[in-house]
Amino acid sequence: MAQDDTLTEDRESIDNEKFVEVSYADSIPNNVGLSSDRQLLRALESWHPNYIDWWKDMGPEGFQDADVYLRTAVGVDPAGWAKFGYVKMPDYRWGILLAPQVEGRTIPCGRHKGEPVWQEVPGEYRSLLRRLIVVQGDTEPASVEQQRYLGATAPSLYDMRNLFQVNVEEGRHLWAMVYLLHKYFGRDGREEGEALLERRSGQQDNPRILQAFNEETPDWLSFFMFTYFTDRDGKFQLCALAESSFDPLARTTKFMLTEEAHHMFVGESGISRVISRTCAAMNEMKTDDPAKLRAAGVIDLPTLQRYLNFHFSVTIDLFGADESSNAATFYSTGLKGRYEEGKRLDDHQLKGQTYRVLAVQNNQLVEREVPMLNALNEVLRDDYIKDSIGGVERWNKVIEKAGIPFRLKTPHKAFHRNIGTLAGVKVSPDGRVVSEAEWKANVDHWLPSGGDRAFVASLMGRVVEPGKFANWIAPPVMGINRQPVDFEYVRFN
Ligand SMILES: [Fe+2]
Ligand SMILES: [Fe+2]
Repeated sequence: MAQDDTLTEDRESIDNEKFVEVSYADSIPNNVGLSSDRQLLRALESWHPNYIDWWKDMGPEGFQDADVYLRTAVGVDPAGWAKFGYVKMPDYRWGILLAPQVEGRTIPCGRHKGEPVWQEVPGEYRSLLRRLIVVQGDTEPASVEQQRYLGATAPSLYDMRNLFQVNVEEGRHLWAMVYLLHKYFGRDGREEGEALLERRSGQQDNPRILQAFNEETPDWLSFFMFTYFTDRDGKFQLCALAESSFDPLARTTKFMLTEEAHHMFVGESGISRVISRTCAAMNEMKTDDPAKLRAAGVIDLPTLQRYLNFHFSVTIDLFGADESSNAATFYSTGLKGRYEEGKRLDDHQLKGQTYRVLAVQNNQLVEREVPMLNALNEVLRDDYIKDSIGGVERWNKVIEKAGIPFRLKTPHKAFHRNIGTLAGVKVSPDGRVVSEAEWKANVDHWLPSGGDRAFVASLMGRVVEPGKFANWIAPPVMGINRQPVDFEYVRFN
């Protein structure tokens, strides 16, 4: 009996713990005990109004007063971490949530492998670590800026809500990084926190740090490609940071991954629905003629392929140069691991190991062996490529099911590259080094042309009647949070 009592008690105290895990009583929801760290709380509270100003300036244009059916993180337990309800975006409870600390966690890789993880920043790695956090942090508000006009052309309320969900969560990811900067980097960290609100995607004199985050996301096809490909880059970067020797970074990024899954879902299912609508039109009209399909208001598959080529190539540049001494340093200090570091069976130090990277020799792509430590950007890029091919194959299943002999394909990784050895080398999507003339003659078949972009833009128009969808996209199979597809996901005021 006594034992049973104890069990019940234990269970209750665990439940209570969960309940207080995230404090919504504080001005900033958190599970990091913010109320007992006055200095940090003050720093974040003084950053907060600037963040809100940024959100109002650069967040979803024209929808700040709308009630949006959003999920808000309320805990870090995978079994019930979010709640859904109508929220005006500026009132969204952006919080600071870290995955639970793992007792006895040790550094998984590099020269400190096996030592206890760090709860404070080691002085010698301070600027490296700050840079890592700033670069990650910079991508978060950048994507909100890139997507800020898309609400005006949402193909349905369902899609509009998904856009805003992604936007508020990218905002929360910014909070996550700013928390780390404020808590662990003192005045430098606070300055970086301000700078994160000052850079602007695509702006000449103060752009975002990484190029893919300065590209425009002008239409919903781009948005779906972006969330499929570029948010997936986010997944791989976060997975690598979730292995970090700096435990607060590992725990922060681990929780961010929970949200990232939805962003990639928006992209994958979005493209899948575009394909499904196009294939239905192709079968109805018994044609694969892009001109006829365009006249019928759907996006032909070759155009989808060109958008895919663009977003894939721009995104794989984000992994950085194929050989990088910084990548080696990040790994050997343990600040950043590899994707699924823990599942790998090597020595996690990689000394003396090699990896193959591409180079151009006599106008041909050749493989070159380089020290693996220097090639870790390439390792992560290759892991990313494997993962992104998976979803492309699922899109192909939709085409196949419709009985249409067309397959989408990720281009060769040397295609349209702007970083590393391959930067500026003219390579066709199937991996041949081509002349300037051949590139020029074909570029409009390989990358979206001005005409493609104008056509896609011409399809964009807002659909706001619940349950109705623009002509170029099929409805989803299911609604959000078990709500029906025709649920009023956004209410305008
Ligand atoms: Fe993010
Ligand atoms: Fe994301």
